[in-house]
Amino acid sequence: MHSYSLAIVLLAGTALALPPRFHAAVKPSCPIVFDGRIPVGTAPTSFDTYATATYFNPDYVKNLTTKWSEILKFPTVDPSRFDGTDYIPLEVTVNDKSIFQTQNGFRRAGLQFLKDTSDGPGTVGVKTLHWSVRQDAARPLNLTHEYLNAWHEAADYSSNQIQFQAGQIIGGSAADKNNFKILNRSGKSLYSVAIDKTNWQNFAIKLDYNQNQVQIYYSVGAAALKSVAGPVAADISGGGQFQLGILKKPTGTSDVVNGGYQEKNLNEGQIYGGLFLEDSADGCVTL
Ligand SMILES: *[C@@H]1O[C@H](CO)[C@@H](O)[C@H](O)[C@H]1NC(C)=O
Ligand SMILES: *[C@@H]1O[C@H](CO)[C@@H](O)[C@H](O)[C@H]1NC(C)=O
Ligand SMILES: *[C@@H]1O[C@H](CO)[C@@H](O)[C@H](O)[C@H]1NC(C)=O
Repeated sequence: MHSYSLAIVLLAGTALALPPRFHAAVKPSCPIVFDGRIPVGTAPTSFDTYATATYFNPDYVKNLTTKWSEILKFPTVDPSRFDGTDYIPLEVTVNDKSIFQTQNGFRRAGLQFLKDTSDGPGTVGVKTLHWSVRQDAARPLNLTHEYLNAWHEAADYSSNQIQFQAGQIIGGSAADKNNFKILNRSGKSLYSVAIDKTNWQNFAIKLDYNQNQVQIYYSVGAAALKSVAGPVAADISGGGQFQLGILKKPTGTSDVVNGGYQEKNLNEGQIYGGLFLEDSADGCVTL
């Protein structure tokens, strides 16, 4: 009866107003390297300073005078597969002021794991990054633009070794703009799947720094992850850091960092859950 009425309300498009459906979190079965799962009861202001930040870098990568407690929302939605009732989703939002330093072309706010460094444990061995995403009907992305949502940027900032993207890739076709795409360092698509407007979508990517190979896992809702691509050769050398959030590129320019067009009164968000990096040295991947 409960799930029946839930289905009706979901159809009415008010998913964000619903009380969460309760299920226990699927616990990571491999050692956690960086944990970005946010326990129930975490104070939003704890994201703002090094004294209180436990999960993410309080300073970067965002408008440096805006606080994470202003950028992040904690929407009441069904929990994601790896959050369950122990952890809460968080939503990264962008608006007209989401400008990092002088990068006036971008609107961006990206979380970095607190302990992630450009030559640290996230850049060696075999590691698997997990992230789940869900769309906020009240803060939709404009898929005419290119978005970077989760990526690993090389230590010299010259490229991203792996990039989880949405929208129309600049210089690419509009045909897959409604898809999430995982691109390799040279922009070739390794996996692509339609953006789901109502369900959690769970992704994981195994990064084998020893063999320069990646493998991609995916599932919808509470379903277990399945391998959907790879292992495939990919140049993931060069260290660097993970970033999770929104980097919205402008349209109509070849200078995306500084120029181009961004509409005014922007109010966009991407909901994340189940963020963590695990050690897959012995082949372990939490599904
Ligand atoms: C950064 O945020 C502050 C505080 O909201 C705002 O005053 C400033 O204009 C923003 N910077 C840019 C470049 O928009
Ligand atoms: C989406 O982006 C395009 C290109 O910048 C713009 O023309 C359009 O107005 C935007 N749509 C909305 C709903 O903001
Ligand atoms: C990206 O994938 C393409 C096609 O599979 C491959 O030729 C290219 O070498 C890959 N790029 C990197 C940097 O791994």
